Amino acid sequence: MTQHSDSAVRDLLRIVIVGHVDHGKSTLVGRLLHDTNSLPLGKVEEIRAMSERRGMPFEYAFLMDALQAERDQGITIDTSQIWFKSGKRNYVIIDAPGHKEFLKNMITGAAQSDAALLIIDAVEGVREQSRRHGYLLHLLGIRQVAVAINKMDLVNYSEARFHEISREYRAYLTELGVQPTFILPVSAREGENIVSRSAAMPWYDGPSVVGALDSFVSEPLSSNLPLRLPVQDVYKFDERRLIAGRIESGRVSVGDEILFSPSNKTARVKSLEVWPATLAQPAQAVAGYSVALTLDEQIFVERGDTISHIANAPIETDVFRARLFWLGHEPLTTGKSYKLKLNTTETQVQVQKIEAVIDTGDLSSAPALQVERNQVAELVLRSRRMLALDAFNDKPATGRFVLVDEYDIAGGGIISMEGYADQRQLITQRSTNIVKLDQGISDEERARMNGHRGGVIWFTGLSGAGKSTLSMELERRLFANGYSVYVLDGDNIRFGLNANLGFSPEDRSENIRRVGEVAALFARAGMIALTAFISPYRSDRDRARAAMPERFHEIYVQADVQTCESRDPKGLYQKARRGEIRDFTGISAPYEEPENPGLVVDTAAHSIDECVEQLITYVEANFSLRTVGRKAG
Ligand code: ADX
Repeated sequence: MTQHSDSAVRDLLRIVIVGHVDHGKSTLVGRLLHDTNSLPLGKVEEIRAMSERRGMPFEYAFLMDALQAERDQGITIDTSQIWFKSGKRNYVIIDAPGHKEFLKNMITGAAQSDAALLIIDAVEGVREQSRRHGYLLHLLGIRQVAVAINKMDLVNYSEARFHEISREYRAYLTELGVQPTFILPVSAREGENIVSRSAAMPWYDGPSVVGALDSFVSEPLSSNLPLRLPVQDVYKFDERRLIAGRIESGRVSVGDEILFSPSNKTARVKSLEVWPATLAQPAQAVAGYSVALTLDEQIFVERGDTISHIANAPIETDVFRARLFWLGHEPLTTGKSYKLKLNTTETQVQVQKIEAVIDTGDLSSAPALQVERNQVAELVLRSRRMLALDAFNDKPATGRFVLVDEYDIAGGGIISMEGYADQRQLITQRSTNIVKLDQGISDEERARMNGHRGGVIWFTGLSGAGKSTLSMELERRLFANGYSVYVLDGDNIRFGLNANLGFSPEDRSENIRRVGEVAALFARAGMIALTAFISPYRSDRDRARAAMPERFHEIYVQADVQTCESRDPKGLYQKARRGEIRDFTGISAPYEEPENPGLVVDTAAHSIDECVEQLITYVEANFSLRTVGRKAG
């Protein structure tokens, strides 16, 4: 049953064909169709006759144009799909006229291919565009690549020329991490090395184009990967809700407990319908099929949610890294917002940081303030709400996205979570049957008793920026002035409450979640909690703020990496540089500066005493009930 449908899918290999038109792409496709007898009867004659009428010599390239016009049925708008068969199996060639169309089809799934055929002109050799094409394949995660060096007839079938080009291009692809499976010399016009081995190039002992394609394997069946079913639509019939979408990977069965992300709700599958219909009432559906399902209970679900099982769920985050190919007319700039399309989700994301721009020609990377058209960049993107996503390297189908600028596809990219935490654990409430109780003593009563309000002074900054020193000094001064105050310090808390946490992104986030809650408890108890943690992530600090929203003051203890490294009070920067500490903030792990801190203390420019004075004034103004300058309400 399932076995059967799996092998039906395996029969077909989807190849994307890339190359400059002038490099003979159409001729090669025409040849493939002709020489594999994949053309409709009489097609060649028809085109020969037409060429004669127009007084033009016959070209194989005309075949492709003719077929394209016939077979484009409006299924995919910008990509033509051309079918042919070898003795072994069926093929569909996906031809993307340009980068833009290629990227556009990344999200619709139309350009999801098992393999690629890349064409280089033997006369022209490796051009900037050949490199860009290679980069796009890398970006799309296509690992089976056949490179056809075409027009060998124009270089007298020269072995030397072939090796020269193939050496250069192989080196480039290898650096990208793409292993060209084959590099083949061909002449599409003369039909050399297309279906059978060429007599014109006896020095070549590899396969023909068709031989190479036949040796490619279909990607590991995505039906065996974890379930990903992005919700496309929710239809309402009387009380029932029908949830519809296409299974990107995995399989779903009636009775399965499924999880909706990012809404984080669960339910059981009550019934299932599948397209294309195989059985009237299937018990299971697999990747590649569209389904409509009903649930055992009515929960609010909408387009954009992703369905998975509870184990192996997508990542939940509001920030991620991307490797992006930019096509926008306007350069991409830091701080600007774009519409993100990710599976069936559409939401605004902001460019938080441009880490580097990569030259697709020589693969060098350099810092940059903006990304120009046709450049590739490494970015950090942030959205205002939680997203459900996957890292491209783990799950290509749900790990890529497109950015839209004013209705126009402006870029496409792949997701990496390096340095960032899956936030699902932090936001999932696990207890049930619990009820909130009011505290007996009000904040007001406590404030009157103490002469000041309770609250949180949250220091953030790099290791060595001065958070601990400043907070301890501030605590002493405030204490002397009659304040009820206590420092929660990163190193100290990691000996006790957070002894079970390390420095992975997830552990740091949990570290800050706990400290945020503890600091809020101190504050509710009427005290001023001073916290000294690197707290490198904005999302974590925002959550800490949400635990005590009335009086939470974020203080940025500012000192750049160079300054902190030159101080290196614990010798940790040195160790990190030697590679002895992994994930060290500022060196090999990210630090996200506060966007809107209550106060910035610049320890690189000012003495400790000056900074403490600045802080005292700030605290008095915001917390004291005695002084006139108080602001807090
Ligand atoms: S946080 O990132 O989770 O907020 P926290 O403030 O608790 O970090 O702890 C930081 C302290 O741990 C640093 O001051 C330093 O002494 C020590 N430390 C040990 N390993 C690391 C690391 N990989 N990155 C940063 N600090 C580290």
